[in-house]
This record gives sequence, structure tokens and C-alpha cells, in this order.
Amino acid sequence: MSGKASFVDCSISEKLLYTAFLCVVGIGYLMALTLIYLTDAGLNGKPGINVQDIAISYYGNRSGTKMEAMLRGPMRIYSKPLDTALLVDWLESGATKSGYDAIAHPILQKDCFACHSGETAKRMGIPDYSTYEGVRSVTQRNTGASLESLVKLSHIHLFGVGLLLFVVGFIFRLAVLNRWLKWTLIVTPFASILADILAWFLTKWDPLYAYVVVIAGAVMGVAFTAQILISLYQIWLLHVPREAP
Ligand code: HEC
Repeated sequence: MSGKASFVDCSISEKLLYTAFLCVVGIGYLMALTLIYLTDAGLNGKPGINVQDIAISYYGNRSGTKMEAMLRGPMRIYSKPLDTALLVDWLESGATKSGYDAIAHPILQKDCFACHSGETAKRMGIPDYSTYEGVRSVTQRNTGASLESLVKLSHIHLFGVGLLLFVVGFIFRLAVLNRWLKWTLIVTPFASILADILAWFLTKWDPLYAYVVVIAGAVMGVAFTAQILISLYQIWLLHVPREAP
């Protein structure tokens, strides 16, 4: 590897190896983008994906519980205002088991069990609220990704993406390019992945940082894609080096 000045000096085997690797990594990157879309799109209740979805995924939606949102939204028609008020009181006081037994269960039984219990719930594929365990999933405040899951995800990302950027950058260093542009393209993705991951944690604290998550992610994507495309182009289509790298 040492002594190589540009892709022109590479053997066909090296070119094939670099090409295969860059293609697999490029497709992997597209899959990663798809995954973000699948997990985060529509979190804010609107189709598609935007900064608000990203904010909700890390910060959560702390203004209320899912049960309250449904009681004020599509399930409104099944509950009388007084029942709704009692249920919301119970939700806001922490949705305890004793409150469930004393207050919530009788109301849910009257208004909601026609669909949300037993065989009917199973048949309709909706949650069964006839037990405390059954309602738990919609009575907790949504505080977004847990700190533990963020730490887990960030260490995997830092190791994985770091290694990936290193190998792609190692190939890309053979590109013939203005040196400042090249140095920038090599360093930028590393800086952006750090900023991106730091912003995950900051977004958990203040949803405004979701903008940093999106911008850092986009910058990293542009630099990474540029490295791959420039490398692939020069591996196969550039024959004479224009200047020493
Ligand atoms: C006529 C049948 C019916 C009744 C009665 C009914 N629901 Fe529902 N509920 C549904 C269906 C169907 C869904 C799934 C579709 C949806 O999310 O809009 C659902 C979804 C929900 C969800 C979201 C579940 C989730 O995990 O996504 C909540 C919360 C909920 N209902 C609460 C209630 C409450 C509280 C009542 C009583 C006041 C009630 N529902 C009465 C049919 C019913």
C-alpha cells in the first residue's frame, strides 16, 4: 500500500477490492438511512419524517400519555367528558395500580371494554385494558430513547462508523484532488459523527438540538458519499493524475 500516490498506481486486484468494499458500504449507508425513516417517520402524527420526529425519538413527547392523546383524539366518542376528566386525573397523578382498580377500571369497563378486552381486543389487534399490565404501555409518559439505549447505540456507532470512515478514508486518500478539499473531506465525517452523537444526548435534554442531529448527519452523509463517489470515479475513469496528492 505504501508508496502509492494515486489510484492510477493501483493493480486491478486493488481496484476491484476497493470497488467492492465501497459498493457494499454505500448500500449499507442507504440501509441505515432507511432504518431511520422506518423507526422515526410519523412519530409526530404526520406522515413523512422531519426534525420534530427526530426530537420526539430522543426527547419524547412529554406533554402527555398516549392514553390521554387517544382520549382527546380518536377514542373521544366512547367516553363522556366526566369520565375523560377522571381518567386524565388518574393519568396525571402517575397512573398507579390502586388508581386503576378504584377509578380507571370501572370507567374503562363501561366505555372501552367493548373493544379493548378479551377476545374482541385480540380479534381487532388492539391492546387489552382489562388488566393493569394491559394499560401500562399507554399510561407512561413518553420520554424518548432511554439514556442506556443511547449509550449502547453511541458506542456501537462510534466503533462501527469510526472504523468504516477510516477504511473509506484510507481508500479515498489516493484520490487526486485539491489538498485542502481532500483534507476537509477526510476529517469532516469524523467530526460530524461526534457532533451527531453528542447531539443525541443534548436532544434528550432539549429538543432543539434535534437540528444539530439532522445537520451533522447530513454533513456526514455528504462528505462520506463524496469520498465514495470520487474514489469510484477515479478508480475506473481517471487515467492521468493531474497533480500529486
Ligand atoms: C368500538 C371499539 C372501540 C372502543 C369502544 C374504544 N376503542 Fe380504543 N381503539 C379501537 C381501535 C380499533 C384502535 C386501534 C386504531 C387506532 O389506533 O386508532 C384503538 C386504539 C386505542 C388506543 C391506542 C393503542 C395503541 O397502543 O396504539 C388507545 C390508548 C385507546 N384505543 C383507548 C381507548 C379508550 C380509553 C377507550 C374508552 C374510552 C376506547 N379506546 C374505546 C377501538 C375502540
